[in-house]
Amino acid sequence: MNKTIIVSNRLPLQISIENEELEVTPSVGGLATGLKSVHKDGNGIWIGWSGITQEELDPRLEAEVNEAITKEQCVSVNLTESDLDLYYYGFSNRTLWPLFHYFIEYTEYNTESWEAYKRVNQKFANKVLEYAEDGDKIWIQDYQLLLVPALVKKNKPDISIGFFNHIPFPSYEIFRTFPKRKELLRGMLGADLIGFHTYDYERHFLSSVKRILSLDVNFNKVTYENRIIKVDSFPMGIDYKKFKQAALDHDKMNEDEKSEIQKRLDQHLQKEDGVKMILSIDRMDYTKGIPNRIKAFEYFLNKYPEFHEKIRLIMLAVPSRSQVPQYQKLKQETDELVGRINGKYSTVSWTPIWYFYRTLPFKNLIDLYTSSDIALITPVRDGMNLVAKEYVATRTRKDGVLILSEMTGASKELNEALLINPFNFEEIADSIKQALEMPVPEQKQRMIALQKRVSRYSVKKWANEFMNSLHQVDKAYHIIQ
Ligand code: G6P
Repeated sequence: MNKTIIVSNRLPLQISIENEELEVTPSVGGLATGLKSVHKDGNGIWIGWSGITQEELDPRLEAEVNEAITKEQCVSVNLTESDLDLYYYGFSNRTLWPLFHYFIEYTEYNTESWEAYKRVNQKFANKVLEYAEDGDKIWIQDYQLLLVPALVKKNKPDISIGFFNHIPFPSYEIFRTFPKRKELLRGMLGADLIGFHTYDYERHFLSSVKRILSLDVNFNKVTYENRIIKVDSFPMGIDYKKFKQAALDHDKMNEDEKSEIQKRLDQHLQKEDGVKMILSIDRMDYTKGIPNRIKAFEYFLNKYPEFHEKIRLIMLAVPSRSQVPQYQKLKQETDELVGRINGKYSTVSWTPIWYFYRTLPFKNLIDLYTSSDIALITPVRDGMNLVAKEYVATRTRKDGVLILSEMTGASKELNEALLINPFNFEEIADSIKQALEMPVPEQKQRMIALQKRVSRYSVKKWANEFMNSLHQVDKAYHIIQ
């Protein structure tokens, strides 16, 4: 029976070792949920890194770890400390991440990390080749593995390969600045189907292929090495039912079942009529526009003092890639900004910003989503942004307002949100005011339209559409031959 092999930098599970005890927790993240049917319903496997390096893994536990990983239909690619340093923290997150998000000034390039990226991509490709059989389909995920499609194709030309880029693809004028631009494109073109979240990313990619490699591009098809490669957009969704159900269960909770966070949120909301809450949730990443958001919020407090003591910004920033200096700088800047604004505006009974720098369990995320009147999502660049969709899915009463940056992939689908330019503080401040004063019927009208769209294009649908398209491309390819 033919199978699908999914390949991503991280496996959809988390391994932790405490007091020599091994714990393996399957991931509940969006990608893992979305690909579940592709992965587990058949005899599919998932290839990726387990989250612990070779040096961290006690050899006595190795067999046990492998067994646990195998049980989840996964295969691990072993990474050393040096791989992690140069390939993950290095080339993936100090070079490609900033480049693809238009932060050219953050983009560091050095040969050592490029060599490590090639070496580790080869490691992933070797694992794929070890498990791939004729008739299988390979689906490679994201910017950490741009070279894997070509490395697999070279050895198994008949195997059908899909690649999905979860982050933006920058415009040609940005991409052309990169020294290894040709190598990256050729790596991706090893795939038979290349997917992006939006039409704009697709267009940028095709334009780079045309201008940098001088290849024939006909509509959304590229001719390369006697193959036709299809490029298309597939906007990723969420597990809508899961979020909606969690919010419905939350609505039914009695006092004893409520979390500490929920009790604090209730206290704030019950303080007086008209008190409202604004929410933001992101990884602590410079692409998310966190300082912009705080500064815009300050601008709002200055411009509209009548809202003092009536609103609160709850900001959850999840720690991420904290070994990369730009992330450390951002954390420091955020701490300072929050401190300054709270210092300036707080009263004995009010702190304008509640700031959490931590990972919160799913249950608490639902507390935050369901208690917030407004979601304020202001990335300066974001491939998709699933938080926007999660907020929409949890609005069981169909109220609430989404303020969303036009620099996110999600903004292309979520037109009924209040769309803002994250660099325009005045516009953000005015949108906050508009959201706070929006009549409930208008909130509902917008939210119902948003829910309709977000529920229809779920993450499962996204995965199925990609796989169906890969199947079609495969069939067409055999006809050409
Ligand atoms: C983004 C990327 C993913 C990545 C995730 C978390 O969404 O597109 O590939 O897994 O961030 O980042 P991390 O570096 O912790 O895997």
